[in-house]
Amino acid sequence: MTQDEAKLAVAWRAVELVDEGMAVGLGTGTTATMFIRALGERVKAGLRIRCVASSDASHQLAASLGIPVVSLAELPELDVYIDGADEVGPRLALIKGGGGALLREKIVASAARKFVVVADSTKVVETLGRYPLPVEVIQMALPIVQRKLANLGLNPAVRRRDGAAYLTDEGNFILDCACEQIPDPEKIAAEIRGIAGVVEHGLFLNMASVALIAGDGGVQELYP
Ligand code: A5P
Repeated sequence: MTQDEAKLAVAWRAVELVDEGMAVGLGTGTTATMFIRALGERVKAGLRIRCVASSDASHQLAASLGIPVVSLAELPELDVYIDGADEVGPRLALIKGGGGALLREKIVASAARKFVVVADSTKVVETLGRYPLPVEVIQMALPIVQRKLANLGLNPAVRRRDGAAYLTDEGNFILDCACEQIPDPEKIAAEIRGIAGVVEHGLFLNMASVALIAGDGGVQELYP
């Protein structure tokens, strides 16, 4: 099974969790995109749901497929949030934000009763940190936050796209931290959170309810 086949398999498995009348949070990224497309097929076939998106890109995609998308103000409580992850560690601790949407993703996830992670088996790790940890930062605070993250040994680098600093949907910068190993995610999350100017970090701890992981053996369910 290729990585894309695995992503597609979990996307379709996740779509089975959505029932008539549900309020659904839509994630961001390639796996979430496959889920949104699959959901669009079900909506076309008559499923009635309402959704909140975690990024402008997912909002636009869902709307283009005829999926009703509203704001969190209209739909502040969600039945389920379905999204990918960059790494899935022990107790379903996650690194997210490779697609730059970590802030809205965390907000939408926090509004949901259930957070379903959809990923291929290459994302499952014994220790988080091989994937660079994204930290979203207020623009004016960038030099200070970068220095403080460097002092913590986290090797921050400004994310760039097309020759310029990458800007999130909320107009902030992202510092990608090459941590290599995060043996104590709670500790590092608290340290990063303590820096003024940090808006959010990509460690999603004690948030995921279940992870659907696709690999050669089919789709496996992991629980915290
Ligand atoms: C988006 O900001 C991310 O959190 C994604 O959910 C994560 O990067 C996984 O993306 P893929 O499904 O594209 O691997």
